[in-house]
Amino acid sequence: MNTPSTRTRDGAGTRTRDGAGTDWWREAVIYQIYPRSFADSDGDGIGDLPGVVARLDDLVALGVDAIWLSPFYPSPQADAGYDVADYRDVDPIFGRLADADRLIAEAHDRGLRVIVDLVPNHTSSAHPWFVEALGAEPGSPARDRYIFRDGRGPNGERPPNSWRSVFGGPAWTKVDGPDGTPGQWYLHLFDAGQPDLNWDSTQVRDEFVAILRFWLDRGVDGFRVDVAHGLVKQADLADWHYPEETTSGDHVDQPRPPMWDQDGVHEIYRQWRSVLDEYPGQQILVAEAWVQPAERLAAYVRPDEMHQAFNFEYLEAAWTSEAQRTVIERSLAATDKVGAPTTWVLSNHDVLRHATRLALPIGAARPRGIGANDPQPDTALGLRRARAATLMMLALPGSAYLYQGEELGLPEHTTLPDEVRQDPTWRRTDHTERGRDGCRVPIPWEADSPSYGFGPTDASWLPQPPVWAEYALDRQRDVPGSTYELYRTALRLRRELGLGAGRLRWLESPEDVLACCVDEVTVVTNFGAEPVSLPPGTEPLIASGPLNGSGRVPTDVTVWARQRVR
Ligand code: GLC
Repeated sequence: MNTPSTRTRDGAGTRTRDGAGTDWWREAVIYQIYPRSFADSDGDGIGDLPGVVARLDDLVALGVDAIWLSPFYPSPQADAGYDVADYRDVDPIFGRLADADRLIAEAHDRGLRVIVDLVPNHTSSAHPWFVEALGAEPGSPARDRYIFRDGRGPNGERPPNSWRSVFGGPAWTKVDGPDGTPGQWYLHLFDAGQPDLNWDSTQVRDEFVAILRFWLDRGVDGFRVDVAHGLVKQADLADWHYPEETTSGDHVDQPRPPMWDQDGVHEIYRQWRSVLDEYPGQQILVAEAWVQPAERLAAYVRPDEMHQAFNFEYLEAAWTSEAQRTVIERSLAATDKVGAPTTWVLSNHDVLRHATRLALPIGAARPRGIGANDPQPDTALGLRRARAATLMMLALPGSAYLYQGEELGLPEHTTLPDEVRQDPTWRRTDHTERGRDGCRVPIPWEADSPSYGFGPTDASWLPQPPVWAEYALDRQRDVPGSTYELYRTALRLRRELGLGAGRLRWLESPEDVLACCVDEVTVVTNFGAEPVSLPPGTEPLIASGPLNGSGRVPTDVTVWARQRVR
């Protein structure tokens, strides 16, 4: 079956508003920087913006088109900066506002675009609005910017509804009066330090338009919109009966939960899009929306809304030819219908790194974090599959997201001591779910330097495992066959061959093999036990692992091939 992508470099849909060339974001490779773990300039063990600036040349050498920075705004860091106390400044741990300006300018000088994180579902509990709300009366305008409600029960001692926090425990916290009189409850779909905003409030809407303008005026190229599916809640805040084993409720066969993916969110994004469209250039909105199926997600990227949405269905797909083909077909079909590019993503700061995740038993429930006493995944198997998955991903039409460190083949840190964990999930689940710290460990640049070159000292806000030395950039640069060189070559070829704007066509293949053409390139991934041959008349261009003696593709390897030149 064919799943043609309708995007071509010259297609009508790819022109910019001013007619100057293609829309960069339709095929961009965007590199996620998690600032606290990328590069530390001052040796305090926490990465910072000057550290990012100092490493921009490395990202140019890697060959990405843009960077997306996770939040660097002033914050108590209750959720690693996703609890924002001031949307218009930089937290001192990351630098100053002038450092953000310099970063944007230096990135632009090198041809890199810059996307910043926007966190509109909630503020920090330290945000002046929330502090004001706590001191204000129930029903006051200050409280109306958030979601305060009376509790249930004779004295309001029970939460207003059954909703749970994504990080565990109830999604409500009670605020008693200074004299101990029982007070109202406020909603937080995440940590108690992240009160949800009330998006029915005009003040809230106006404020976020002003925040968009603040960063657009500073020259950013777009916004990754945190929890884009959560801003609007069903008006009656109806109870929700959670399907077993999930707090997010984003399962395809369930009725839609009253706190996620409500139709009202789209009006907000249409307004934001019109703000972005006032600016010259091509700034983008990217939805972080854990929404399935693909057709519902596609609603976020209709022509007058956002530009892209993360494809988490792809990230979550099992490592089988059937699951991979299904998700690729479905994703392309759904976004094609609305004229948006599909995105592809395998890792980020919220999930197990794919070099570890892909080694877990296929079909089993994925743990939220792995600890030293858990069964340890097979690192070699995980890396082999991760390299194959990445090479497959980088051939696909659309835009691809990389998460810092994956170009080094970094696995999850699966033996972090529990006492250093900082993810609120660990605390809020009474230490039953370890959470996301294992994918957030500062990354290694130089094998023989303090903190593996993360910073000038040994300090590192999460301990780096000794094995990081093997993965350091300086151990892999210019080393044939290294994961870093695989990424670098694949990114170069992807660009040269225009694969991001290509057209995908499936080829006949054995059951355990995925084979397709993207324009002139044949892509083969072998999920089966036996090696397979490349299509006749083709020769390998790049492979995610060594081919066996006869040039056949072994298990868990992807090859890009082209017609043999005589
Ligand atoms: C998003 C972020 C995650 C954060 C949450 C709450 O899912 O990616 O890191 O904890 O939103 O802001």
